[in-house]
Parts: sequence; C-alpha cells; structure tokens
Amino acid sequence: MRDRAEGYVTELPYTLGYYPELDPLRARETLARAGVEIAPIRRACELGFGRGLSLAIHAVAGDAEWWGNDMLPRHVEEVQTLTRGLTNRIHVSAETFAEFCARDDLPIFDFIAMHGVWSWISQSNRDVIQEFIDRQLAVGGVLYVSYNVRKVWASVVPLREFLVATASRPELNAKSLPDRIEAALVAAQHIVACDLPPARDDPAFEKHLRKIRHQSKAYLAHEYFNRDWVLFDETDMAATFEPLGLKYGAQAKSGNKESGFRRDLWVREQAPRVPRAPVAEGSVENYVIVERAKIDEFNARLLQRALDEPYLSTLASPATGGGVELGWRTLLALGAHRAGACDATSIAASVTATLARLGHPLVHEGAVIKDSQEAAAILHREAEGVIREIEGAGVVG
Ligand SMILES: C[S@@+](CC[C@H](N)C(=O)[O-])C[C@H]1O[C@@H](n2cnc3c(N)ncnc32)[C@H](O)[C@@H]1O
Repeated sequence: MRDRAEGYVTELPYTLGYYPELDPLRARETLARAGVEIAPIRRACELGFGRGLSLAIHAVAGDAEWWGNDMLPRHVEEVQTLTRGLTNRIHVSAETFAEFCARDDLPIFDFIAMHGVWSWISQSNRDVIQEFIDRQLAVGGVLYVSYNVRKVWASVVPLREFLVATASRPELNAKSLPDRIEAALVAAQHIVACDLPPARDDPAFEKHLRKIRHQSKAYLAHEYFNRDWVLFDETDMAATFEPLGLKYGAQAKSGNKESGFRRDLWVREQAPRVPRAPVAEGSVENYVIVERAKIDEFNARLLQRALDEPYLSTLASPATGGGVELGWRTLLALGAHRAGACDATSIAASVTATLARLGHPLVHEGAVIKDSQEAAAILHREAEGVIREIEGAGVVG
C-alpha cells in the first residue's frame, strides 16, 4: 500500500507555536517596508498548519477567510475545537497535500503560506504544492515559505543521519517514537564519549547534539526524524518559484541568517503558466467586522489550554488581528484572574500550583529558580505586573 504520509512522522503531534510570519496583515506591512505594495489579503491558505495556533488566531481575530490542511486528524480536530462557534471564516481538512491540492472547490488565494513544511516533505509533495501555487495564487498574491538553509545546516547532516539510522534499527521497532528518539540520542552521546566516528572527526556532531539533547520529543520528531530533510539555498527557491511568475519580495522576519531558517515572501507578478479553469469564488465579504466577544471567548479557551501546555504563550489581539506574545506564565496568571483570583497573592498561588502539578521548573532570566521564597517573590511581582496590565485594559484585559 502507498504510504499516505510519504515518510513524514505521524505518531506524535507537533509543538504548539504561533508564527507571526503567517499573519497576512504583517506580511503586507513587511512587503511594504521592502517597497512592494500589495492589495489587502482576503483569501488565505495555510498548508500543513500543524496544531494550527496561527491559523486559529488569524481566522478568529483577523479579517481574511482561511482554508488549510494537515494530514494529521489530531491537528485538525485541535483547530476545530479551538475555533468552534467563533468564526465561519475557517475551512480545515485532514487531507494530504496531494488530496487538498487536487480539490476543485477552492478559491483563488491572495496568500498561500506554509511554515516548517518545505524542507520536511518529499519531492513529489513539493511538486504538488508548486503546481497548486501556480493554479491557485492570484496575480498580486503572496507566497510565504520557510525552509532550512543548506549553508548553515549542512554540518548537521551526519548527526541527523546517525539519529535516523539508529532510531530505525529493528531491535527498537516495538518501541514508541519518543523512546526510539531517546535511544538514538543516548547512542549519539555514547559515540561522542568514546570518540567514535562519525563524531570523532566532526566537532559539529557534538555541538549540535548538546543543543538538541533536551528539546521536546515532539519537536525533534518533526524536525529530524522524517524520511525527508532537504536543505535549500536561495537559488533553489528561485528555480522553483520564478518560473511561476513569482518574484522574491522580502524576508518575513529579520535576523534569520544565523538561525539558518529562511522565511521568504514571494509576490506573484505574472499569470499562471497553464490557463485556469473557472474556480469557486466563495462568499468573502470585503470588510469583516470581527466581534470582540468572539476574540475574548477564543482567548479564554487558550487560557484554559495553557493550564496543560507549557509552550503556549500567545493570545489573539483584537488590536492587530494577529497574535501577541505574552509568555506562558502571563497566560497562567491571566487565567487565574479570569477564574476569580483578583490579588497578586492568589494569582501567584495559582501559577505556583500549575507549575507544581506539571512538574515544570520556574525559569527566570535563563536560570532555574530552586529557592521557594525567591520563586514566590518572582511570581508575586509577575502577578502584580499582570494586574497592572489588566487595569490598564491592554490587549489582555
Ligand atoms: C514541521 S510541521 C510544521 C507545522 C506548522 N506549520 C508549524 O510550523 O507549527 C509539518 C506539518 O506538515 C504536515 N504534513 C507533512 N506531510 C504532509 C502531507 N503529505 N500532507 C499534509 N500535511 C502534511 C504534518 O502533519 C505537520 O503538521
């Protein structure tokens, strides 16, 4: 039977992250700063949205209508649960790229976006997506695509190959993916300790191993353990997108160079190579009034979710239509306030209880705080800050 996932890991859901580069308003502003004017984005599409926090925020708080796919049903259900009853401007499906991109009921998009997808999928999927962009992206529309840069990541190839080969050894077959990843990391540490190849003559092997050793298994699974892990450079991207009439516009986020993760914005200047068949126009209104009450309810759902998600740190902003990064503990404090704790002492107590329940350390300015009095003082100060923010009726109020 053909592998529906085409070598992509399906055993673990991805991490829950918000990526402002996927915000249409922000993409438009970034391009304007680079001297490229585009029309407002009304119809947007996110391919491979993962746990879909960005998609959910933009569909609830922003003014575009969104379509999207991710082949993992758990990912799709999570977005549906988060947004249920709050917006009718979101259409998601648990389809593969091949299935989604073959649909004939999709509109022409002003924005097609994919974050953390291009380097991790098969060449045949990249071909499917390239053809989809050609067919579905409007003239004047924007493509956002991020990828791992060859120059920066090439030195990681030996470690990644070692980890993937070790995790797929037959004696580990019966184990779960997190256990296979752990076994591969332990094996890599062993060869570093014993100065064996491929670590022996490659300082980057140990350096990178140190960096990833304690990262979450969900992140590691999706970053390193797919069958495909392809590095690109600017010339490769130009060879893929220029023939579609797209022109490079700007980096969606400045200061990416060292991270080796490029986030390109491309703008379509020319019509598709193959003339389009008539496509569904949908029913997008020109201007959408986003109800504040819906955003408040959506944020309340995120605050509830934060109780079990130490990496959730973003709420939707009614002011910008995008996400606002506040930090996980701020979300916990806001949740406690919403649940009735109104002074700094009771908010701090509630945050302390959540940290204890999850066994999560208190990290402050990069250090783990072990002293309970010091921890209490930090959480109290943070709670006071949150109360001031609420009283000032900022975005979190
Ligand atoms: C590294 S994750 C990035 C997720 C999300 N864009 C983010 O940055 O949080 C890649 C996503 O692509 C999805 N994916 C991979 N191959 C796919 C395929 N063939 N069809 C549909 N989705 C796919 C995975 O399920 C996963 O959620």
